[in-house]
Amino acid sequence: MAFESACTHEGVTCYYDSGQQKIVCPRHNALFDPANNASVLQGPPNRPRQPFRSGLMEMEPLRPANVP
Ligand code: FES
Repeated sequence: MAFESACTHEGVTCYYDSGQQKIVCPRHNALFDPANNASVLQGPPNRPRQPFRSGLMEMEPLRPANVP
């Protein structure tokens, strides 16, 4: 699952740390757990990250026009 890049504290862009396997906010050193719905592990945010919503995710799969 993908999550919005903005921190839920002050909206700073976060990054994924592959070594820790956590999402990190560099402003106040918050940690979010992507394996647990991006819950807050450390830092001032008081709510988890929001799942990333894309219009593409809501589209039907494309099918070739001449295939039965
Ligand atoms: S802005 Fe992300 S922890 Fe404060």
